[in-house]
Amino acid sequence: MELKFRRNPDYQTLSDEVTSEKMFMDRRHILSAAGFLGAGSILGALPACSEPQQTPAAPATASGHPAPGAKLTAKKAAYAVTDAATVEEAFAGYCNYYEFGTSKDDPPRYASLMKTSPWQVTVEGETDAPGAYALKDLIDYKKLEERIYRHRCVEAWSMVIPWIGVPMKDVIAKLKPKATAKYVQFVTYLNPKEMIGVNRPVLQWPYTEGLRLDEAMNELPLFAVGAYGKSLEKQNGAPLRTVIPWKYGFKATKAVVKIRFTTTEPSTAWNKANANEYGFYSNVNPNVSHPRWSQASERVIGGKGGFNERRNTEMYNGYEKQVGALYAGMDLKKNY
Ligand code: MTE
Repeated sequence: MELKFRRNPDYQTLSDEVTSEKMFMDRRHILSAAGFLGAGSILGALPACSEPQQTPAAPATASGHPAPGAKLTAKKAAYAVTDAATVEEAFAGYCNYYEFGTSKDDPPRYASLMKTSPWQVTVEGETDAPGAYALKDLIDYKKLEERIYRHRCVEAWSMVIPWIGVPMKDVIAKLKPKATAKYVQFVTYLNPKEMIGVNRPVLQWPYTEGLRLDEAMNELPLFAVGAYGKSLEKQNGAPLRTVIPWKYGFKATKAVVKIRFTTTEPSTAWNKANANEYGFYSNVNPNVSHPRWSQASERVIGGKGGFNERRNTEMYNGYEKQVGALYAGMDLKKNY
């Protein structure tokens, strides 16, 4: 396959990952050299339901939430796919976080410059509980759950990740959206001094995303604060990110600093960059191709077969039972 990676684009699109076989193979060598891809390093699937893990209490930052990498105590929830979880090093080393650069290994290299404490989340718009919330007042760290979810990137690769977080619906209920609120927008951290990637106009910063309010109130979405038993590392979205497992990964915002309730569909970063390719819904759908590639299958990252293992993509990423009703009667080709 021909290499089509543009070095200095105004809008680099997520497709570069799909078209760049050579770059992909280069990464494969890097990861394989680092021991990420060997069958022996695969984590086994964790049991669906059990007692809370016995881990030491998390060291807190000055503002009271756990520092990146601190161990977390979480109850294993009844949401666990049976596939083996992605090897942790691949999750931590193969990242999309364009504020730190467009290569998969830029975020792990440069995200350490980012400050994640103190951290406040501003809540605004159609809400009866507006204000600036310290993270520890928004997230109940005593009620953390571990959920093992599929993660499907629009670039046609996937992982299986043991997230730690709280149900988004519980946090939203606490934030009292008004009856007029129909959507929720997530705005993420932006600091050019700490984020070298934002000096290039790859996207219109800050990175924003959004959901219909009934999507956000579904049982599946999480506000995640950790993964693999630990507080999130910076390159994976510390200290707070969203996880919406039936949608393409770009809907999941890293480093959330603002939650805004709106009456109309909020703007989203990738939709602003290229509306023909990245719609508001962006539900995983093997029957609706991206304009430039098929979504029928995906490359499994950090899985048994290394980078070359493929699996068929499932409707709503395998979560049709939980979310299919949200889209009943909608034309999924139009509402991509
Ligand atoms: N959030 C921010 N703020 N900036 C980003 O560039 N990339 C998105 C999403 N959230 C992104 C972001 C994309 S395209 C994906 S696939 C996931 O984060 C990747 O998450 P991971 O690197 O932890 O696997």
